Amino acid sequence: MNFKTVIAFSTGIAILLIAFSGCGESVPKDEEIAAVTRQIAGDFMEEMKNELTTALSDTVAGTVGAINVCSEKAPEISARYSSLPGVTVKRTSKRLRNPNNAPDEYEARILDTLESRPAFASQDHYEWEIMGDQKSFRYVSAIKVGSPCLKCHGNPEKMEEEVKEAIAAKYENDQATGFGLDEFRGLLSVTLEWPEGKAVYDSIKAGL
Ligand code: HEC
Repeated sequence: MNFKTVIAFSTGIAILLIAFSGCGESVPKDEEIAAVTRQIAGDFMEEMKNELTTALSDTVAGTVGAINVCSEKAPEISARYSSLPGVTVKRTSKRLRNPNNAPDEYEARILDTLESRPAFASQDHYEWEIMGDQKSFRYVSAIKVGSPCLKCHGNPEKMEEEVKEAIAAKYENDQATGFGLDEFRGLLSVTLEWPEGKAVYDSIKAGL
């Protein structure tokens, strides 16, 4: 092999290597990952809504009974979604009922932005967060107050006495009352670690 052939040969190998490594690690477009996290968020919200609607329609247990559903089912559903490899799903807010739902740094930043720019809440948001060698796709969408929510998050003067007592007994520093209809209540937050969450991404993407 003369010098020129060696150069041409090694350039060829280098191009092949780059092409193959590119294949193995190619990250989908942000919009594609957002569509998957949006699906996860939608499924989660639907499940929460169904649990709540069922609980609130139980006339024997009433709203007080539904508090247990919220305090037990909500963390349970979050934990189930978050057991998917590379996935974390949670609800968070600036005015918390359960301190375990406190925002992390990214969520706190979005909550601050929402406070100063309410229009920001009309759409969902996503971006990559890089922490050391950990890369995560962060997706959030706004949670708004609907009329059934007011029973437990509305004006305390209009809430049932037993409901207020039951909430106070469970959550000693509750800040999550006094919301009005359609008001911004908090965020639904989905984190997809990459590449840990790739298998989940692939299987949801295939069904979209
Ligand atoms: C029956 C009472 C009840 C109703 C109705 C209710 N919630 Fe809640 N909510 C709770 C309880 C209890 C918690 C604390 C759950 C926990 O321990 O994680 C909570 C927590 C939350 C949180 C998590 C943040 C935090 O403050 O801890 C959000 C967000 C939320 N509720 C939104 C809503 C929305 C939106 C609705 C209406 C669709 C609603 N809730 C209806 C009782 C209720």
